[in-house]
Amino acid sequence: MQMQTELFDLQEEGAFAPRQPACDSEARAIEDPRFPFEEISKIAQQESWRKEINRPIYHLHKWWAQRLGSVFRALALGAFNSPEADIIDQFYKPSRINGTVFDPFMGSGTTLGEVLKLGGRAVGQDINPVAFFLVSNALSLPRREAVLKTYREIEADIATRLLEYYSTYLPDGRRAQVLYFFWVKVVDCLHCDHPVDLFSSYVFAQNAYPNRKPEVRIVCPRCGSIHSGKHGEHDTQCLECQLQFDPLAGAAGKTKATCAGCRKPFRIVDAVQKSARPPRHRLYAKLVVDAEGEKTYLACDENDYAAFKKAEQELSARANAYPTVAIKPGYNTDQAINYCYQSWHEMFNSRQLLCLSILGERIGAIPDQRMRELFCCLFSGMLEFNNMFASYKGEGTGAVRHMFAHHVLKPERTPIEANVWGTPKSSGAFSTMFKTRVIRAIEYAENPFEIKLECETGNAVKVFGLSERLTVPRALETLKLHCGDSSDSGLAKESVNAVITDPPFFDNVHYSELADFFHVWQRHVLGENGFHVNGSTRTVGEVQHSDAKVFETRLADVWKECNRVLNTKGLLIFTFHHSRPEGWRSLLGSLGAAGFYVVRVHPVRSEMSIAMPKHQAKEPISFDIVFVCRKQPVESALQIDSVVPTAKDAAGIQLRRLMSAGFDLSKNDIRLLVTSNAVQLLSVFEPEKSKAELQRLEPELENVSKQLMMLTTQ
Ligand SMILES: C[S@@+](CC[C@H](N)C(=O)[O-])C[C@H]1O[C@@H](n2cnc3c(N)ncnc32)[C@H](O)[C@@H]1O
Ligand SMILES: [Zn+2]
Ligand SMILES: [Zn+2]
Repeated sequence: MQMQTELFDLQEEGAFAPRQPACDSEARAIEDPRFPFEEISKIAQQESWRKEINRPIYHLHKWWAQRLGSVFRALALGAFNSPEADIIDQFYKPSRINGTVFDPFMGSGTTLGEVLKLGGRAVGQDINPVAFFLVSNALSLPRREAVLKTYREIEADIATRLLEYYSTYLPDGRRAQVLYFFWVKVVDCLHCDHPVDLFSSYVFAQNAYPNRKPEVRIVCPRCGSIHSGKHGEHDTQCLECQLQFDPLAGAAGKTKATCAGCRKPFRIVDAVQKSARPPRHRLYAKLVVDAEGEKTYLACDENDYAAFKKAEQELSARANAYPTVAIKPGYNTDQAINYCYQSWHEMFNSRQLLCLSILGERIGAIPDQRMRELFCCLFSGMLEFNNMFASYKGEGTGAVRHMFAHHVLKPERTPIEANVWGTPKSSGAFSTMFKTRVIRAIEYAENPFEIKLECETGNAVKVFGLSERLTVPRALETLKLHCGDSSDSGLAKESVNAVITDPPFFDNVHYSELADFFHVWQRHVLGENGFHVNGSTRTVGEVQHSDAKVFETRLADVWKECNRVLNTKGLLIFTFHHSRPEGWRSLLGSLGAAGFYVVRVHPVRSEMSIAMPKHQAKEPISFDIVFVCRKQPVESALQIDSVVPTAKDAAGIQLRRLMSAGFDLSKNDIRLLVTSNAVQLLSVFEPEKSKAELQRLEPELENVSKQLMMLTTQ
């Protein structure tokens, strides 16, 4: 891909000079303790419940740890308005900001989109080509008619062919489409070589809300036929072979399986490794939809096995059908490598590879570059639902649990294979995701809106007409994107008014390890003569490391560049949370090393209410801290003894404000308030001293957190 998103010339004199002073007074609303973080948190919380619908533009393609657009709209308003401004009032007005904002860690482009909506100029950079590709597509969407025309051409050319691979027969002989094929991994017993299906339960389908709809589908371990049962029941009888069994007691446990032949247990990973290749799969069931839209679960039959064989043969006859790139070892990839997955394409079955190959080839042939890239972005996004690491969530929700649901690449024992082109009843298919991702994003770009909570009813309504459209002609003048290490932005000295960003949180998510999954396909579809030249998106400069010192240095390198490009009165504003002490020390050290001082910290509602990693955490963190920093030292007559009591007071006030707004805070949330206030106070010292003091004060700060925790139980 060419760097066509260099949308205006950086070196052009004055390109980034603010058109007029961004704000009359020097102080900004975001530096003021009255900044309405609790009101913003309420809006953010509302957005988080249906993020893909409330801000679809940033969800055109998967990215991890996506931030909430409403928070960044508020941050941008706070950065460009005086302390007297009513930010919530501004939020729901057609407000405009006048200046340039740089996001050195743009991810899915949240800051940039929000700045453009407010009429500002945005410069975004990310080290990862997958993030860059996502943002360059999302913020330069072609016109809807042209996109629909291309879609219809693709549909006319290949939809029937792709649907044919998912066509089946009903018991009465009618043809029907398969929505999902159900597969189970099979390994050979370590003791007697008997093949063992890795079912942990023979219940393979249930509603996402089983208490409301308790009917479940069970596969018989002896004859493979399918019957219904009730959620939670431990006893069932096969209607075909009369076998009586506990449907919840499959052969596979957490790490071990028990062989049905010799009855002995063995470690699953040992059996996989003995075979020295990824586990094979057995097809056992399907969910079909007939012409009337009626869905039925059925066991697979000879026709289904023959259809799969045929797809396998067709695939082997295609040249250069799919990317064959090795998976590099790493924190997120080792689990798959342990299961003998060596190459990214092994995560798909042959029929998936065949359909993706046909689709990818057709997209690669789209003559217009921007259109080709947009459809490649859609194609890439659907990959996470169409591989053998995806599983079944059940009906009553988006049926496919995509492979990154756990932020790791976990081999799935009972994967589902979705219909690649898809039917109107499909989830995760090319045709359905075209509507839910591309069309929704275009609608938002053409007519952006904010979510507002109605006082009387508490219902959320959409408020239109507040923002600039995010369509191409405007974006061309105001947006600049760059892919690379943000320790070098190429921007002129003191040329931006604010940096608003969301840096990586220590080693929270290993972006590039996961992004490689998409990148190998993007490169395969778009060709190698452009941007997608590396086999892996991993790079040395990525701010992501389990070693605190390395993380701190790399983060400091980017902050130093931010310091250089910010004008003297400019603010550095970013969100952060971390529950491990060394994460905070690294942050403090990195800011100090780059010459930044923290002026203010505010808590805001973070991330996605349904994001898995947080829910898995013992003490979930529901808040981020907004750090507001300046280049000049803040006036401070701080005595080291006053850090803990001052941080306690400030955190206490913030806690009370959030509680009165109706938020529950966990122990970790409260730690976050206390620590971030201490970080603010300590940032006036030189970096090594501030880090040492933070470490020394940790036990006292922990005590303060405990005392404040009592407030929440009173
Ligand atoms: C926490 S994410 C940003 C999330 C983003 N705010 C969003 O809403 O999606 C951090 C981003 O920083 C990028 N990154 C890490 N190191 C970088 C570097 N040295 N230069 C530029 N980007 C970097 C990662 O690729 C990742 O996309
Ligand atoms: Zn049976
Ligand atoms: Zn055995």
